[in-house]
Amino acid sequence: EAASKGGYDHFMLKEIYEQPNGVKETLIRRLNADGEIQLDDIKMTKEDLDKINRVYIVACGTAYHAGLVGKFAIEKFAKIPVITDIASEFRYSNPFIDENTLLILVSQSGETADTLAALREAKSKGARVLSVTNVVGSSIARESDDVFYTWAGPEVSVASTKAYTTQLVSFYMIALDFAIKKGTITREYYNEMIEKLKEMPELVEKALEQETYIKDVVAKELKKSNSAFYLGRGLDYNLAMEGALKIKEISYIHAEAFAAGELKHGTIALIEEGTPVVAIATQDNLFEKMLSNMEEVRARGAYVIAVAQEHNKEVEKAADKVIYIPNVDDILSSILTVLPLQLLSYYVAIERGCDVDKPRNLAKSVTVE
Ligand code: G6P
Repeated sequence: EAASKGGYDHFMLKEIYEQPNGVKETLIRRLNADGEIQLDDIKMTKEDLDKINRVYIVACGTAYHAGLVGKFAIEKFAKIPVITDIASEFRYSNPFIDENTLLILVSQSGETADTLAALREAKSKGARVLSVTNVVGSSIARESDDVFYTWAGPEVSVASTKAYTTQLVSFYMIALDFAIKKGTITREYYNEMIEKLKEMPELVEKALEQETYIKDVVAKELKKSNSAFYLGRGLDYNLAMEGALKIKEISYIHAEAFAAGELKHGTIALIEEGTPVVAIATQDNLFEKMLSNMEEVRARGAYVIAVAQEHNKEVEKAADKVIYIPNVDDILSSILTVLPLQLLSYYVAIERGCDVDKPRNLAKSVTVE
């Protein structure tokens, strides 16, 4: 087992560091000689896409969180309305499904029982099914009409890391491909976004350079607490959800994610002297709003750990600690923002003496409903 960890103490850390490569592989294997997106296992033509009037993205756990970002990407680029739902809820919510519905399933393993059941249900009602999965030939892949394989490589750690970032890349590519076929974006914008995606592997590597600071400074603060809040707006709210899940899974700190704008509607009552608040403020258009939310919680005693883009140094006036990510287009920031959140969860769990790769009560793949 030690050999397969490639010199790392845990699979989780190894897999965190495999992300520059996973992101790169997922991307370049889908770019043809002309630098355009070519999705060989997705057979949807322009006519097929024009028929689609609603997309459901359905998944569990971390894959669900990737699906929340997927909604942003598809709505922004391809201009199709998207609803992202949890698989175990979707099945019992009487979703509006017909032959003009596209169901996108996200599953690292391709074997999650609730996700598979959602697939069968939607298919029986006439939906077209596209899956984003990491396992070739998995049940979900086999039963789908179209497949996008993430190139994360095998993920062993129960807490999902590289599967998530490669799922995000998949969504950006699917959304851009749909958009150029439908004509909802210009060729120029399409090319520009592909160029920006190509920069991501290097930026991922750069974001991971915050490891020492996260390990030696930030994790040592957070480990002292038994509860924490994660705040964000827009895309960052989805990242707050993933960050909170990650820390719950492996360090057993009770963490809750909130849309920062909802704070004043109840959540702020929970803030006391020393309560840790991880404030995610990577979206330029929402930055000022996030700053005031940070000031609000800090005025009530919160210990604020912020995540922001490098150019937004102003964040320092409202935070106790800041973790920077490289400057990036807002829409693509998620691929970077999750990295410090993963490292933070990992090092807090280590500080608390938890079994990182095999957290209590959890399974890598849940094959019962
Ligand atoms: C389990 C794992 C999670 C994972 C979820 C969905 O709960 O512990 O890490 O996100 O299942 O798994 P899937 O294989 O469908 O992505």
